[in-house]
Amino acid sequence: MTISTVVFDAYGTLFDVSAAARAVASEPGRDGFAAVWPEVSAHWRAKQLQYTWLRAVTGEHADFWTVTQDGLDWALEAVGQAGDAGLREALLGLYWKLAAYPEVPAMLAALKAAGADTAILSNGSPEMLAGAVDSAGIGGDLDAVLSVEAVGIFKPAPQVYDMVGDRFGVGRDAVLFVSSNGWDAASAASYGFRTLWVNRADEPVDRLPGRPDRIARDLTGVPGLVAAS
Ligand code: LAC
Repeated sequence: MTISTVVFDAYGTLFDVSAAARAVASEPGRDGFAAVWPEVSAHWRAKQLQYTWLRAVTGEHADFWTVTQDGLDWALEAVGQAGDAGLREALLGLYWKLAAYPEVPAMLAALKAAGADTAILSNGSPEMLAGAVDSAGIGGDLDAVLSVEAVGIFKPAPQVYDMVGDRFGVGRDAVLFVSSNGWDAASAASYGFRTLWVNRADEPVDRLPGRPDRIARDLTGVPGLVAAS
């Protein structure tokens, strides 16, 4: 076993954000939102990420809670629902009580049983990550929850990936980095981590300099990859 440390992206990788948005859409009285929620969800995620990259390039950092709100405000205005304060509050509240994907608890437990170190490395603010880890009940099998707030810049700035070596004292090739974001897996591969892209949505591979070492549909194979390394 040459992989000693397995590091996960948070949103969309361990935590199911789209299921939460779907749940708000199915609440009574949300018929207007139900018709547009896939569009809102796609705009929200796209704007949230664009704002992280733009703020990293310009050096105008704000925490992920700010860009998450800004992305949602753009998305709600784009579909003509900017005035619905209750809807805004319900959608933002999701980020504090996310569920993990079904395979996550057993996968993390297997990694810990095999002696691997485990961590989250996320754009999320420490408070947002603490809320999601608690609500998903996975904190007991995570050795660290690393937020970009410690370095004040978003992924894929290399200072973010440096946090793993700083925390665990391991070389880059002893780290398996796991993300459902193609750009995050590609950037981590360029950085020198071993990488698994969790391609839950069957998307094309990002055309970036780095390519993920492996691609899977979910996280069930992670302990096997570590054992075989
Ligand atoms: C994160 C986002 C990119 O958790 O999913 O960092």
